[in-house]
Amino acid sequence: MKIGTVGIPNRFALAPLAGISCTAFRMLCKENGAGLIYTQMIDSDIISGKTSKEVQQFLNIKDMERPVNVQLVGSEKNVLIKAVQAVEEFADIIDLNVGCIEEDYLQKGCGAALLKDLPKLESILRAMVEATDKPVTAKIRIGWDNQHINGVAVAQLVENAGAQAICIHGRTADQGYAGKVNWTIMKQVKGKVKIPVIANGDVTSYDDGLALLQKTGCDLVMIGREAQHCPWVFNQGTIDIKQQILRFIELYEQHENRQSPVEIADHVYWMLRDFKTTEDTKEVHLLGTIPRIKRYVNRLA
Ligand SMILES: Cc1cc2nc3c(=O)[nH]c(=O)nc-3n(C[C@H](O)[C@H](O)[C@H](O)COP(=O)(O)O)c2cc1C
Repeated sequence: MKIGTVGIPNRFALAPLAGISCTAFRMLCKENGAGLIYTQMIDSDIISGKTSKEVQQFLNIKDMERPVNVQLVGSEKNVLIKAVQAVEEFADIIDLNVGCIEEDYLQKGCGAALLKDLPKLESILRAMVEATDKPVTAKIRIGWDNQHINGVAVAQLVENAGAQAICIHGRTADQGYAGKVNWTIMKQVKGKVKIPVIANGDVTSYDDGLALLQKTGCDLVMIGREAQHCPWVFNQGTIDIKQQILRFIELYEQHENRQSPVEIADHVYWMLRDFKTTEDTKEVHLLGTIPRIKRYVNRLA
């Protein structure tokens, strides 16, 4: 499987997760077998004004994570061109966010708002494709709402604009994260475009991912929220949750610029979701230092 010239070693991708996809989290997903890593969405207004050194520190991508798809959110063509040029030396692939439903971004015409302005979407994507030699992709939803399901038309537009893959979250913007994922549209998209299609939404296990690939015929499957709790969802082997959490902390200490006990505690709490214990795991938020969090995890039984 290739996206443009970039080889993808298997059929599982880590979703972009704003506020979650720190470097250590991405690395742990990669160690567990994720074949394609997305960064969280990066605001084109912010990144386009940074120096190369600042962008490098901001993205903090490690070679073991590659291939990495760096996701941009924006709606101004010239700003997105600058953002593409700012990230391209660190990215293997560059993605445009066409699915974000945060009000601030929608008001600026970004994210899922682009599903309602197809001429603009096409012109932005073309400009991004022309601005770089790296493959460009887009991550969309199936439409704005139930009355405007245009996922197939959007996917064709994305392909015509020169993008090298498309990811489709099987919900409308209006649905947010509620209701069922529509895999029929994902299947239709796969039938209508030649570029690789990544199916996304509600996958909660490795086998679930294989089933979605089977049902839709898509090339890759992307996992988001389940990976937040189980970065090992990409791994078919037997898992020791405690070891995974300790490994996360180790990766964080070795590679993260922020060294924030608050950020580590959040991840530890999320990853303890399926750990059987009588302790109130919310207490991890009260510990305040990285060594205390490590001791807490070590003592958990
Ligand atoms: C906390 C959170 C942050 C997200 N951040 C992004 C983002 O930065 N870019 C994006 O395209 N999608 C983002 N999404 C959407 C996910 O990438 C994914 O499309 C969605 O969660 C459905 O997949 P899932 O059911 O496997 O979680 C986010 C979702 C959540 C829950």
